[in-house]
Parts: sequence; structure tokens; C-alpha cells
Amino acid sequence: MTSSAPEIRTICCIGAGYVGGPTMAVIADRCPQIRVTVVDLNEVRIAAWNAADLSKLPVYEPGLDAVVGRCRGRNLFFTTAVEESIAGADMVFLSVNTPTKTKGLGAGQASDLRWVEASARQVAACAQGHTIVVEKSTLPVRTAETVKAILSAAQGSVEGSHGKTFSVLSNPEFLAEGTAIGDLEQPDRVLIGGEAPAAIEALAAIYANWVPADRILRTNLWSSELSKLTANAFLAQRISSINSIAAFCEATGADVQEVARAIGSDSRIGSKFLKAGPGFGGSCFQKDILNLVYLCGHYGLHEVAAYWQSVVELNTWQQHRIARLVVNRLFGTVTGKRVALLGFAFKADTNDTREAPAIRIARDLLEEGAQLAIYDPKVSTAQMTSDLGRQPAASQQKQAADLSGEGSWLACGSVAEAVHGADAAVILTEWQEFRGLPWQELAAQMRQPAWLFDARAVADVEAVRQAGLRLWRVGDGQQG
Ligand code: NAD
Ligand code: UGA
Repeated sequence: MTSSAPEIRTICCIGAGYVGGPTMAVIADRCPQIRVTVVDLNEVRIAAWNAADLSKLPVYEPGLDAVVGRCRGRNLFFTTAVEESIAGADMVFLSVNTPTKTKGLGAGQASDLRWVEASARQVAACAQGHTIVVEKSTLPVRTAETVKAILSAAQGSVEGSHGKTFSVLSNPEFLAEGTAIGDLEQPDRVLIGGEAPAAIEALAAIYANWVPADRILRTNLWSSELSKLTANAFLAQRISSINSIAAFCEATGADVQEVARAIGSDSRIGSKFLKAGPGFGGSCFQKDILNLVYLCGHYGLHEVAAYWQSVVELNTWQQHRIARLVVNRLFGTVTGKRVALLGFAFKADTNDTREAPAIRIARDLLEEGAQLAIYDPKVSTAQMTSDLGRQPAASQQKQAADLSGEGSWLACGSVAEAVHGADAAVILTEWQEFRGLPWQELAAQMRQPAWLFDARAVADVEAVRQAGLRLWRVGDGQQG
């Protein structure tokens, strides 16, 4: 740390979500000398972060329980006392949600910044002395200007400001859900954008407790903000690219896994993020690309906007394509048929369902009159109810007896329960347990001729074939 960089003893993080919780837990773990307080307006969420039973934390993330268990009550605290936590902090992270706007100017594309603005105003009102404010949320490029404007209105000359001053940094988070703890403990890089060298070095000094110096990148504010949107856009673009090739493989008899292996061995392309599937989900890829699209349009770059828009469109198409394909293979109708959906989370090792491909696919199948039996090891029935926008059937018997032709759904406690009596099973999340399923036993419980639609290409093809099931596997032109 340079001599001019202030030493950070207290951190407050506004937002106890999928980013705020795990990120602060790892900082507290690696920096026992810093007191870290995570605040949120959501009392239920804070209570869950304080649950004595660590399996009840609001975010399911492998390894998180151990980290929280080590630090909570020592130098990691979760509270709804937003104002006093800000007042006592040397550094405040803004880690609030930034979803796509649903109405007004830019609806459907622009980020809704109301929570960022509200939290910046809270910091402006409550901070004392010099406070470094760090944008941890993913934000449109130049949001720091807004944050600075709000903070500077409270600083210096304003009466009652008690000489409060601020520095603003951008420090986007690159963790992926399901691997958050590993990503935070061994990041490819940490990015810090800012103007004041002392503030940049103060934050760099925190990360230096566990991140090698050459992985801590320093840049200016706008490049930092835009790098985050760009990283997500590039990652999502790879998925749409491979999914487009998957469809082409199915049409031509090629196998997308072979194609991915061949192109991934080119060191310029690389092997990661080339798994074809039911399309990307998660809270950020779509939101961040749409935000990029909006910003490009705002700056008159309409061709650039259209280019990135097509990544989202291909993704939506892939999800509808899979639902259509299930209907077509089941003799053109799923009305009244039991279809097991295996996996509801947007990826394995998380309980997060935001923008999960399962939602769109389930809705399409419900529209076609299917009776869905959904199993996910981590997603609650309440979450599925909210995502599907309708109540589950009262029971399997009631579901089966319903001859109205209306689609219905039910949450199941196991794969075996879900596939019982089903015409098809559809794997939508790559949970480990779906890789070695006893297809012989499961197939015996299904109504024949039965299908397995493996949208994640995780099932053992031999076992499925031997069980007598018909198989469609994403991107495999030989199967189905
Ligand atoms: P989240 O919705 O899980 O959590 C945000 C939390 O902020 C909520 O609990 C909400 O109650 C709280 N909040 C909102 N306004 C508040 C206020 N004024 N005071 C106190 N609390 C307030 O969101 P998330 O998934 O943690 O994402 C947060 C940000 O990080 C987003 O910008 C997202 O794009 C970005 N991001 C997310 C991920 C991810 O994997 N989820 C990864 C990288 C970056
Ligand atoms: C993603 C990025 O990977 C993180 O770097 C970023 O911080 C985060 O978004 C964010 O800004 O929120 P996340 O959405 O948690 O992380 O998970 P990913 O592993 O990126 O997966 C996203 C989606 O793409 C999932 O639905 C996943 O199943 C799908 N995917 C991923 C594929 O279909 N194929 C692949 O090869 C990889």
C-alpha cells in the first residue's frame, strides 16, 4: 500500500444478495483485521444470513457455509441497520440489484438504477469523514458519474456535512454462481477502476491479502464499468454461437461435442464456455447484453446494437426450439401427458432460477397442455410457483384426473417420482446426480414408448439406449 492510501478498517456492503453475501464473506475471511458489515433492507434475507443452521443461508453456494461459519460474529456481520453501518464504514460497496427496466424510458433494455441511486443517496446522507464508495453492482458505463453527482451534493460545503468527502471506484464482480467461493478466492483478475490513486490503492491493498499482485488490474472508471458488460456479452455470445452450431449439427448428423473439442483445441478459441445446452440463464447475461444494446442505441451505434441483440434472440429461440422439439417427438401433442423436467435452476450448484431456461420451456409445455413433474434438488416449490406464475396441482392423482387439457405442474422430491408414469424426461440442469441415473430402473416406470430429452448432454448414452428409451441429445445429429 502506498503511504497516501488510507488503511481500511471497516467495510459496509449494501445488498446481501448472490454477490454481496459471498463476496463480503470471502473478504472477511481473508482480512480478519477488517470489520465487514453486510446490510440489506430485506429482513427475511438478513435473518437467513444469520441463521444458526448454516444450511439455511439464503444463497446456496458450495463452500459458502464454511466461510460464513468461520467469520460470522467475528468480523462479518449481517444486519438491517443500514444507516449506522454506513456511518461507521471507511469503504462502502454498492452491491444492489440492477435488473432490466420493465417500464418507462428504455423498458426491456436499460438497467433499472433506482436501487443504485437509493443506496448512493443513503451513503451521501449517512457517511462520515472520508468514504470510498465502490460500485460492485454491474452498471451501465458512466454510472459512476451519477453516483459522484449524488455524493458530491452532500460533501464539503453543504451545511451539516461535517466535512464528509468521497472517492468513487468501480470494482465489478466476475464470480459465477455455483463456483463463487473458488472464483473469489482465486480470481482470474480483480479489476479496479477509479480516478483517485489513494482510493484505488486502498482497495487494491484489501485484495492483496490473497490475490497475487499481477492479477489486480487498475484502470479508469469508464473502462472498468464497460469491461464488465463486455465480459458478460462475450461469454454469452459463445453460448449462442455454440447453440446455433448445435442446431446445425442436429440437422446434418454432426456432433456438437466433437465440434467443440476440435475448435476448443485452437488456443486462440479455447475450450471453455463451449457447452451446448438449453440456452443461457442467470440474472445477468441477458440483462447485461440488453443494457449494452440500449447504450449502443443511445450512442447511435445501431448496427452494433443489432449485433448484440442477436445473441439474446438466438438464446430465446433455442429455448422455444427445445420445447417445440419435445412436442414434435411426442407425436405432435403433449396434452395430458406427463413430462418430467429434471432440473429447474439456471445451472448446477445454485438454487437461483433467474432467467432459467427451464422457466420458458416449462411455460411453453404448459401452454401445450402438458402435465409437468418437476424435480430440482435445490429449488423450492415456492420459487417454482413464482417463476411459473401458477399454483401447483394439489396432488399427482388430481393432476392425472384432470382431463380439461389445461397444462399443470407439480414439484417432485426425486427423479424416480418425477419420471413415474411419464412419457418423457427432459434434463434442463446439469446437476451431478443426473449424470449417473439408473435408466433401466427409471425407464421401467415410464409409459412406453418413452423419451429422454437431454438438453445438457449429461446422461450416459449407452445406459439410456440399453434401457430402451428414445433419446434426443442437444447438438447430436446421431441421436433422435
Ligand atoms: P440480488 O437481487 O441477489 O441482491 C441485491 C440485494 O440488494 C437485495 O437483497 C436487495 O434487497 C438489496 N437492496 C436493494 N436496494 C437496497 C438498499 N437501498 N439498501 C439495502 N439493500 C438494498 O442481486 P445479486 O445477484 O447479488 O446482484 C447484485 C449486482 O451484482 C447486480 O448488479 C448484478 O448484475 C451483479 N452481479 C451479479 C452476479 C451474480 O452471479 N448474481 C455476478 C456478478 C455481478
Ligand atoms: C456469469 C459469468 O460467468 C460471471 O463471470 C459473471 O460474473 C456473472 O455471469 C454475472 O455477471 O452475473 P453465471 O451467470 O453465474 O456467471 O453463470 P455461468 O457459468 O456464466 O452460466 C451462465 C449460463 O450459461 C448458465 O445458464 C449456464 O448453464 C450456461 N452455459 C455456460 C452454457 O449453456 N454453456 C457453457 O458452456 C457455459
